[in-house]
Amino acid sequence: MKDQSQQEETPADKEMRVTVTKNGPYIISGGVPLIQQEICNDDEGYCRNWKVTKNYPVQETYALCRCGHSQNKPFCDGTHSKINFNGTEKAGSEPYLKYPLVIKGPELDLLDYENLCVHARFCMRAGGIWGLTENSDDPVARDTAIEEACNCPSGRLVLKDKKTGKAIEPDLEKSIVIIEYPARGEHGPLWVRGGIPVVSSDGKPYTFRNRVTLCRCGKSMNKPFCDGSHIQH
Ligand code: FES
Repeated sequence: MKDQSQQEETPADKEMRVTVTKNGPYIISGGVPLIQQEICNDDEGYCRNWKVTKNYPVQETYALCRCGHSQNKPFCDGTHSKINFNGTEKAGSEPYLKYPLVIKGPELDLLDYENLCVHARFCMRAGGIWGLTENSDDPVARDTAIEEACNCPSGRLVLKDKKTGKAIEPDLEKSIVIIEYPARGEHGPLWVRGGIPVVSSDGKPYTFRNRVTLCRCGKSMNKPFCDGSHIQH
């Protein structure tokens, strides 16, 4: 576990980057590890753990599909140009990053950036992270809330320790995870972890965060970020 201020780029990490291309794929540079992980349920059906199901061979640079139509997923095969993929990036000033809903508790405060929800559902166990935060003077509730927040891939849910005033962030290896949730037949977003810069197609860096999730189905209304649109209701 670490706080946001402990995120540092080492020289070897310096080139790690995700670049969004106009109406095309994500270009990943700097030898970013690519991993596939599944969300696993506990015996009661709540999302609880992650399981690594594939480690891809390390490549210095590669292109990941953003349109959702590649025949060679997760990699781009050029189909985006055949289908005239509209990959217009809608995320920008992201006011929701400045004004999260704040749930106050005795030991923890929860910052809830609801627009970033990708429905990984780790937050629902034990009555839900919101109630756990309000009861965070109970050590079990506190620990459960921290576990749930740190499993939230998009960083929708961020807990702050009231004593230190610092965000409690998971210590994540710099990598990209392809999220799968077989129990529900869902193919989730790309989880960009450990503080890898994401740069828009016009060269502007998005807000630097320890964890972000990028759309890989082409349907998000908040591209390049996932907004949960991959889930069929
Ligand atoms: S972005 Fe190229 S095939 Fe999907």
